[in-house]
Amino acid sequence: MSSDDQKRAAAEAALEFVQPGQILGVGTGSTANYFIDLLGERFAGQIPACVSSSLASTERLRERGFKVVELAEVDYYSIYVDGADEFDVALAMIKGGGGALTSEKIVSSLAGQFVCIVDAGKRVEVLGAFPLPVEIIAMAERGVSGVLRDLGGEPVRREGFVTDHGNPILDVHGFRITDPVILEGEIEAIPGVVTCGLFARRPADVVLMGTNHGVQRFGV
Ligand code: 5RP
Repeated sequence: MSSDDQKRAAAEAALEFVQPGQILGVGTGSTANYFIDLLGERFAGQIPACVSSSLASTERLRERGFKVVELAEVDYYSIYVDGADEFDVALAMIKGGGGALTSEKIVSSLAGQFVCIVDAGKRVEVLGAFPLPVEIIAMAERGVSGVLRDLGGEPVRREGFVTDHGNPILDVHGFRITDPVILEGEIEAIPGVVTCGLFARRPADVVLMGTNHGVQRFGV
């Protein structure tokens, strides 16, 4: 089974969390795209609205007939479904490989449950082999980079890329993240950091991982 097949299987398993009539939070990336496509096939006309974490997902949702509303228009949504670049045993994640980390962190933080959908390659013992994305305010690059080096990482600016919010991303190599909750707080406290791609203070509630032997479930 390819990693794409595993992503699709995980996305399909997430449909069990979808309740007709409920607003949904939707993530970004290739696994989230499978989820959006399957949602369009199985739940067309049954979801009143979605809250999206990127311009790309908003466009894909609208193409499939879903109404996408601003976060400010919504009181509550029970689930947020999104992929991840890595997850650990505590269901802490690295996210932001697709560059949507800031909206993903905002939208996921307001959901009742974070349902993470991944292929088997995303499970790790210790986070950090995947370079940690950090969205920054451009004028702060030098200062932020210095602190990230002091913390043990090697930041590399993602060339030719700005986020939906118009900001650059530093991809930080070389971290071995044994305490992601602490590191997330330390990085997000650096002046000029918009968002760190660690999702540890608010980890996933459930991870659905596609494998060659079916979908494995972690968490609630
Ligand atoms: C985008 C993300 C994605 O969820 C993450 O990069 C995983 O992507 P994919 O589903 O394509 O493997 O955080 O910002």
